[in-house]
Order: sequence, then C-alpha cells, then structure tokens
Amino acid sequence: MRVVVIGAGGQLGSEILKLTPEGVKVIGLTHEDIEIADLQNVKRVLHNLKPEVVINTAAFHKTDSCEEFPLRAFEVNLAGVKNLVDVCRKFGSVLLHISTDYVFDGKKAELREPYTEEDTPNPINVYGISKYAGELMVRNYLREHYIVRVASLYGKKGSKSKGGNFVLNILKKAKEGEDLRIVDDVFMSPTYTVDAAKEIWNLVLKRRPFGTYHITNGGYCSWYEFALEIFRLAGVKARVKPVSSSEFPRKAQIPRWTPLISVKGIRLRHWKEALREFLTKFTP
Ligand SMILES: NC(=O)c1ccc[n+]([C@@H]2O[C@H](COP(=O)([O-])OP(=O)(O)OC[C@H]3O[C@@H](n4cnc5c(N)ncnc54)[C@H](OP(=O)(O)O)[C@@H]3O)[C@@H](O)[C@H]2O)c1
Repeated sequence: MRVVVIGAGGQLGSEILKLTPEGVKVIGLTHEDIEIADLQNVKRVLHNLKPEVVINTAAFHKTDSCEEFPLRAFEVNLAGVKNLVDVCRKFGSVLLHISTDYVFDGKKAELREPYTEEDTPNPINVYGISKYAGELMVRNYLREHYIVRVASLYGKKGSKSKGGNFVLNILKKAKEGEDLRIVDDVFMSPTYTVDAAKEIWNLVLKRRPFGTYHITNGGYCSWYEFALEIFRLAGVKARVKPVSSSEFPRKAQIPRWTPLISVKGIRLRHWKEALREFLTKFTP
C-alpha cells in the first residue's frame, strides 16, 4: 500500500509517519513539499506519487489567528481540502482527513455527555466553521473517505504552528517557577498522538467502513484537572490556580465542552494511562 502523509513535519503527522506499519510504503510531505491551498501544486505533487491513500493532517488551526485571518482559514481548511478531494477522485485514492472537536458548540455540557459521531456539529468560531466546511466537502464529494476528529493533542514533537502543546508548555513554565492560572470550566478529551496515530493506521489497514470517526483517549477532564495530573505524574511541584475562562479573553469564542467518544467501536485507553506512558517515556 502506498500512502502519502500531508503535514508530515507536524505534531500528529510526524507520529503517523514514525508508526508506519510494516508493508506500507509511506511518503511524508511537509509544507515545503506541498501547499494544499494551491490546486496546481497539489496536482503536480500527488500525480508523481500516485498514492492509494492520502492522510491529511495539514490545517490552519491557531484558533485566534483564524478569527484574524478568516480567508486564510478557509483557503487551507476548506479550499485546500477541496483540492485534495479533487485529486483523490481523479486518482481513485482514499482520503483520510483530520478534523477537530471544535466542530461542536459545547452545548452538550447540559447533559454532561461526550459528543459522538452521530451528533450534529455547530461550530462557534472561524476555525471550527472552516474545519466543518472541510468535513462537508470530504463527506459530500468523495465516497472513499475517513474523517477523523481528534482533540487536545500532545506528543513528543509539539504542534508546530501552536508552538508546542499544553503538556510541554506548562511543564516548562512550572520548572521555571512561574505561577500558573489554568481554566477549570473548559472540558475536553486530552489525546496522545501515539495512540491517535496507531488508531488512524488501524482504520486504514483494517479497511473499516468509510465515514466519520472520533479518535481520542478515553474519558475527559478540564484543563485544570489535566494540569494537576501532569504535575502529579511528572513529580513536579507547581503553583497552579484554577480560574474561569472569562479571565482569559480571547479573539475566538471557545466551546467549553468538547469531550468526544466513539459509537463506532473505537476505544482508546483512558487519557490518564496515556499521559503516564508519555511522561514515563519522555521527560520534557
Ligand atoms: N493540535 C491539537 O490540539 C488539535 C486538536 C484538534 C484537532 N487538530 C487537528 O489535527 C491536525 C494536526 O494537528 P497538529 O497539532 O499535528 O498540527 P501541526 O503540528 O501544526 O501540523 C500541521 C502541519 O501542516 C502543515 N501545513 C499547514 N498549512 C499547510 C498547507 N497550507 N499546506 C501544506 N501543509 C501545511 C504545517 O506546516 P507549517 O507549520 O510549516 O506551516 C504543519 O507541519 C490538524 O488538522 C488540526 O486541525 C489538532
């Protein structure tokens, strides 16, 4: 099987590449190799590679920057995805496209239940709207697709565009003696890139039915609870105070409740177990 991974220099893309199963020929494309917002470029690069599967992790996903530069958000997260759809249709390739928990509005907080693949998205910021538009493009224009929603990723590499990830960043700050104020009213499913990458390969190799999948570690927590667990497992003493998200005004409106769960048989280990392994294997 010949697979192309777009966004190969990024946090998730690099892990997918690293965990390539035996027998798969994988080609990683960084932003230097391909610009998904440029159709001619996409055609030229993918024509030469003729992949059976394209995995797209590339996105414009700094949430506040998307509010400032909405056209760029739609250029990458919608038009860029449309370009991939067009080329996949032409070459008969399967497209596995990465999406986000931010397609949801957070109103399921009333039920205290995680969002499933069957819930209807209703994004409340430009990032989420542009990613949902990308999802619709894939879902409605390409039969042979997987849309994989992930959330709150952390891994060894850190997100390139976001400048690291929550785990790496707060450990660094705590070690530097900074007093930390972390929001305790925003809930999500923290997800280890290694676990997400393994499950992404499973979808493709086991030829699971095409469609939309939630791939996150089990359970959920607030960012504050996540921080406490990070410090506990890392054995780091930190001065950390829970605060309301209203103390951190942002350009983008942030959904306060986006835990995800799968009703399609995807079960990853609990987020605390995954975090323990990450911090054991890799001490930042
Ligand atoms: N990080 C999270 O917590 C999170 C949560 C939910 C969903 N997601 C989704 O997960 C995916 C991967 O996230 P990540 O944390 O791995 O991000 P990342 O580290 O920023 O990786 C994305 C990669 O895509 C490249 N890229 C950006 N724009 C591109 C374009 N127009 N053409 C080609 N390549 C481009 C980036 O290169 P440059 O940096 O050089 O531009 C970067 O290497 C994204 O689709 C995101 O929406 C992430």
